Amino acid sequence: MENMLKDKVALVTGASRGIGKAIALSLASQGAKVAINYSSSDAAALEVCETIRKNDGTAEIFKAQVNVEEEVEAMFSSIEEKLGSVDILVNNAGITKDNLLMRMKTQEWDSVIDVNLKGAFLCTRRALKGMMKARYGKIINISSVVGFSGNAGQFNYSATKAGIVGMTKSAALELASRGIRVNAVAPGFIETDMTASLTDDVKAAYMEKIPLKSLGKAEDIAQAVIYLASPMSDYMTGQTLHLNGGLYM
Ligand SMILES: NC(=O)c1ccc[n+]([C@@H]2O[C@H](COP(=O)([O-])OP(=O)(O)OC[C@H]3O[C@@H](n4cnc5c(N)ncnc54)[C@H](OP(=O)(O)O)[C@@H]3O)[C@@H](O)[C@H]2O)c1
Repeated sequence: MENMLKDKVALVTGASRGIGKAIALSLASQGAKVAINYSSSDAAALEVCETIRKNDGTAEIFKAQVNVEEEVEAMFSSIEEKLGSVDILVNNAGITKDNLLMRMKTQEWDSVIDVNLKGAFLCTRRALKGMMKARYGKIINISSVVGFSGNAGQFNYSATKAGIVGMTKSAALELASRGIRVNAVAPGFIETDMTASLTDDVKAAYMEKIPLKSLGKAEDIAQAVIYLASPMSDYMTGQTLHLNGGLYM
């Protein structure tokens, strides 16, 4: 199916690379006007934007730290001016600062909570201004398999990814009466920069545990996001779609 999201305005946070990039490209291929948010990779964000434009899509880049309130406010104002009010919000920006719990620095805890949870809070709250008025909206939060299974060395990160699920359910309850659907996607092990630094041994150990015997691709996650952003999922809210090759059931 094509053009399911024609003229909808979609903001994807952390869309310069990896999963966010794949989501931005897929949303654009369905006719959405895409706001590409990122933190520092100017050239990469511009490349995503150019790719969309070359394919006759509409896109703009917006550099902003999702965890800084003033930057989020400025980003939304600019999106509204250039593209229109946000109909679809994908809270994808996320970071890891892995360490064993005994050695985890307070700063490693704080920064991951800040970007992964506060960032999603700030963007969601600001997006509601327009969505409430429109009595329509789709919010898609990117969680992770480790928010469900836990993971040694990811005490901070797994807390945020479980937190995302709680946020998703609470927002779904609050916003259903306004026609705003809120769902989450929980990816398993996906090949991106975030997982590139893991050693071959760690990757092989994961592979052992994945029944489908392959790592996921960013495009696998993008397809699930398209489903959640489109009218195909209109009777769904407060749910999490798990895409992990069977790693966690
Ligand atoms: N890869 C996996 O296996 C996996 C599995 C489960 C869940 N996830 C989740 O999927 C999401 C995307 O992961 P990924 O693997 O694609 O990550 P990635 O390749 O490391 O890309 C992260 C993206 O987030 C942006 N970002 C980081 N901090 C930001 C901030 N403060 N404000 C705005 N943007 C910020 C980065 O922008 P810059 O390029 O400018 O730095 C980049 O675009 C994350 O929420 C992650 O937790 C990933």
